Amino acid sequence: MTGDTKRVQELIGRMSLSEKAAQMTQIPANLLTDEEAETWAVRGIGSFLHALGKRAEKLQKAARDSRLGIPVLFGIDAVRGHALKNGATVFPSPLAMACAWDREAMEAVGRATAAEVAADGLHWTFAPLLCMARDLRWGRVDETFGESPTLTGELAAAMIRGLQGEDLKDETAILACAKHFIAYAESTGGRDSADTPVSMRMIRETFLPPYKKAVDAGCATIMTAYLPIDGVPMTAHKELLTGVLKGELGFNGFVVTDWDNVGSLVARQQYSETLRDAALAAAIAGNDMFMSTPGAYEELIALVKEGRLSETVLDEAVKRILTVKFRLGLFDDKQKPKIVDMQAHQALNARIQQEAVVMLKNNGVLPLENKKLAVIGPSVDHIHAMLGDWTYMSHPSIRSSCEIEHQITPVTPRKGLERLAAGHGLTIRYEKGCGFLREEDPIAAPDVAGYPYLEKIIKPEFQNLDTGAVLSACEGADVLVACVGDFLGQTGEYRDRADLDLSGDQQALLELMKSTGKPLVVVLVSGKPLTVPWVRENADAAVQLFNGGQTAGLALARAVTGETNAFGKLPISFAHHAGQLPVYHNQLPGWHGRRYIDMPEEPLYAFGYGLSYTSYRYGAPRLEKENGGYALITEVQNAGEADGTEIVQLYAHRPAGQRMTPVKELIDFARVPLKAGESKEVRFPVDMESLKAVRDDGSRVLEKGTYTLMAGSSSRDEDLRKVTFTI
Ligand code: NOJ
Repeated sequence: MTGDTKRVQELIGRMSLSEKAAQMTQIPANLLTDEEAETWAVRGIGSFLHALGKRAEKLQKAARDSRLGIPVLFGIDAVRGHALKNGATVFPSPLAMACAWDREAMEAVGRATAAEVAADGLHWTFAPLLCMARDLRWGRVDETFGESPTLTGELAAAMIRGLQGEDLKDETAILACAKHFIAYAESTGGRDSADTPVSMRMIRETFLPPYKKAVDAGCATIMTAYLPIDGVPMTAHKELLTGVLKGELGFNGFVVTDWDNVGSLVARQQYSETLRDAALAAAIAGNDMFMSTPGAYEELIALVKEGRLSETVLDEAVKRILTVKFRLGLFDDKQKPKIVDMQAHQALNARIQQEAVVMLKNNGVLPLENKKLAVIGPSVDHIHAMLGDWTYMSHPSIRSSCEIEHQITPVTPRKGLERLAAGHGLTIRYEKGCGFLREEDPIAAPDVAGYPYLEKIIKPEFQNLDTGAVLSACEGADVLVACVGDFLGQTGEYRDRADLDLSGDQQALLELMKSTGKPLVVVLVSGKPLTVPWVRENADAAVQLFNGGQTAGLALARAVTGETNAFGKLPISFAHHAGQLPVYHNQLPGWHGRRYIDMPEEPLYAFGYGLSYTSYRYGAPRLEKENGGYALITEVQNAGEADGTEIVQLYAHRPAGQRMTPVKELIDFARVPLKAGESKEVRFPVDMESLKAVRDDGSRVLEKGTYTLMAGSSSRDEDLRKVTFTI
């Protein structure tokens, strides 16, 4: 028995029933008065979320001075840096960061985030998100690392390693939380938490592998999703939470529910009749801590007293929570880091923001040099649209408990271009042109009742196309740059969209600009892939900027002026039309008309796709035997005139065993810097584990037959070269 295990056991032995129930409780402090919060701290609450600064310090003191002195865990949604705090480093959205396919940068982002969170006396972030965005209508696509289990798992594991550091006891280490367990993005029609008809086998084969990587990386906590799997709410899903997650994967941290999951079993999902039944179902299923259902505290106590719930269930949950608190060094008076190197974090942010820019098209109009530009559109100078969700701007109610001076001024695309203009002989005329919504668009934005801050954000977006102003801005310009996309009212929680076309008059704006006959560069600034076939057809160049970090506008300007060639690739497939979904790359082979009669078969832009100012040539891949399996070797040459970094991708097609398998699926990737003309051999040890099929009984087997490995620059057939082996 380790020292910590002994201390946990001793402590549990001294805890009363109500102290155990309190330890299983987590409440958002920003929804409590100071007095209420203090009462909970003294009662021995397990965790508060969204308390910052002095308030957190005061509550911690109250907890430490209480009967058993068990310290409280403070949690916060630091999903892209400590971004709910005004003054912290705001990294790009997870989807944007995923465009970099950069494990090393992601680990560094985790480290930087942890240092800033820990410096505020907080211990826990609800990140990374392991949901895979395969239905683009879902509101939270921006929070994902895209559609691939491999890319998601690799980037999530890197972020976890960064957040938790080498030892959780270190001053700058905080707890990660892999969420939302499981298949949360997969609900019918992309409507958040609607029924999710996936089988247990599919869960094991497709949705579980990223969690395995998270658990193997030592992730200390995991969050239960809202959704029901085939009619069973995840909150009550004992087979998945206890059987699969804690049993099969061997997860030894603790499970926290998502926001009011327990109350929702009654109020929203109509699964339990009373809150008491709901608390019983949630505890038995394997949820160790209940987020934001304060009433469940009394119910847990009553359930044990009534004899409906064994106290040993509470003991097990509390054991997991306390073990994590010990691992974190909370009982050993863990100190806050005194110095945080904000400058290094800014440099890291500049790097990942740059790598997150994806060039979708270029007929030679880029890079921009010695030109008169007309830069037009609602995203040109829009901080909210650029930043997107989960920042101090999108969640002002959380940041309000710690308002400090803004230290980093956001750089929008307009500001970025203006900053670089002189150095590239550019003159810029700017015009908004239109809003994201038309004046007569009543339902193109979410219901903002109860979200007064959203109302403030949405109102200014209703603006029709100003034809006169647009045409006059275009006059005298050599090149037109349109900045269009979506804004905060159209991306994030509660903001699923049925229609993914450019909203309001933005399409009309593009067509008006095109009608001038001048070269047109389209910059898409959006939370998720929009359906923009017109752009692919008609623009001379197109650049995708998913919600960037604080200075993403500068990264964009550096990219379009050719100051850098650090472009990213898409971690997600684009559709021509919302009705064409799904378009993700790892689908099973279909037949009997693989496409809608009125849509092409292929996605608009494929997973893994992205251009740069150079091009890469791939040699024929070959296999070598290695460690009882294989390594694939491929030669990659920078065949252009600019230095660059190629993101080399490895896909596999597996033979069908009991079940069909995806046409192709990403299984590995590497970032390879290559000077102009340079060649390198890239070696991928093939992870045979990842090639195993999951049989109906849950076992994993390397099926007999022919395996095809494909290496290249994107998931498109024309970009891949193949080699096979047989088992
Ligand atoms: C609800 C969201 O679904 C989850 O991702 C987040 O961590 C919690 N709220 C806490 O804010």
